[in-house]
Amino acid sequence: MLAMTSTTTDVKKVLFFIVFAACGLITMPLFLYYIGNQSSTVCPNYFTKVPNVTVAKPEKPILLIWLWPQGVKFDFKDCKTYFNIDSCVLTDDRSLYRAADGVVFYHKTIAWDLNNLPKDPRPAFQKWIWYNVESPTNTARKAGLDGLFNLTLTYRRDLDITTRYELSIVRSQEQFVLPQKKQIVCWIASNNIPGTGASTRLNYYHELKKHIDVKVYGQAVSGATFLRYEDYYSTIASCKFYLAFENSIHEDYITEKLNGPMVSGTVPVVLGASRENCEQFIPADSFIHVDDFPNPKALAEYLHQLNQNKDMYMRYFAWRKYFRATPHLLTTHNEFTQPICTACAHIAEDNTYNVVHDLFWWFHKNIAGHQWK
Ligand SMILES: *[C@@H]1O[C@H](CO)[C@@H](O)[C@H](O)[C@H]1NC(C)=O
Ligand SMILES: *[C@@H]1O[C@H](CO)[C@@H](O)[C@H](O)[C@H]1NC(C)=O
Repeated sequence: MLAMTSTTTDVKKVLFFIVFAACGLITMPLFLYYIGNQSSTVCPNYFTKVPNVTVAKPEKPILLIWLWPQGVKFDFKDCKTYFNIDSCVLTDDRSLYRAADGVVFYHKTIAWDLNNLPKDPRPAFQKWIWYNVESPTNTARKAGLDGLFNLTLTYRRDLDITTRYELSIVRSQEQFVLPQKKQIVCWIASNNIPGTGASTRLNYYHELKKHIDVKVYGQAVSGATFLRYEDYYSTIASCKFYLAFENSIHEDYITEKLNGPMVSGTVPVVLGASRENCEQFIPADSFIHVDDFPNPKALAEYLHQLNQNKDMYMRYFAWRKYFRATPHLLTTHNEFTQPICTACAHIAEDNTYNVVHDLFWWFHKNIAGHQWK
């Protein structure tokens, strides 16, 4: 009996295991299917679901935005819509960190103690991108950033990825039609904080307006007119001259303040990077530079002269036969779109090894501290 009992127990055990194993076999595919689905919901469009549950990397490289610039987000589709860039997978989903080929960090958003940077080890293929839109005057030196990044994304041309408003070459010869002019000199300025370097341009403006009428929009001076984003280009177009005054003066620091008038059919009056430096970006006869004049009064006299002489004035548009300026996106909401799209295009092409060693030494002193292999 005892033996019999034990045999019955053995049979029961075997049956139990058969049932258990069968259940396992039935449940396994469901479980795997579930896992497969889970991975794909992380980023439904980017990953291909394969039957054996391997999560395949997309063919395009992944660019992860770890720190959004000042929390300003944009629609990833904008890269394709506005700049025809579609060469990477843009995401801000941090769970993709291990798979990301590039990771973008916006300088101002990096914590002083760096504790908002990734804690996980960096995959060998991954490149960290230091993204900064400001000039050295307005860039804080945060300790610990040397030797951390592989690429820089700034306005500077001497390194990696440059966020620039390029002139494009006109293929067909289009006739330039000068927009209707209602004012002589205009200026849009919102920042007047001396700590940002803005006092140079403000002093120049105060001197200039003693000799020529300047219509001001924005909040930088009292009594200025409020300007809506949708009126930006048409307002600049309605002026003969536009003060393209940068907040601080640095090599290559040429911003949308110059692009706006170039797009609109207005002559820019530059205060910022030197004439020689500007000429590396735009035709020499397309703009007026404050350095061409001994003082604001002499500049005002020249502007008056051009205002009277249409032939002289129109010479500033001769370049339009060959080039065209591409409008930049307006609003702070869109300010960061183009640079990040540019980084996306870059990461898809770049497969060099690089390390940015002396980040601030390079950025502030204009000397490259970079190693190439
Ligand atoms: C799983 O799928 C991937 C991608 O299709 C394939 O390369 C790999 O060989 C498969 N693995 C197995 C174990 O079947
Ligand atoms: C990126 O920079 C880090 C830090 O210097 C370095 O360890 C890593 O090898 C670099 N990676 C690439 C792909 O250049």
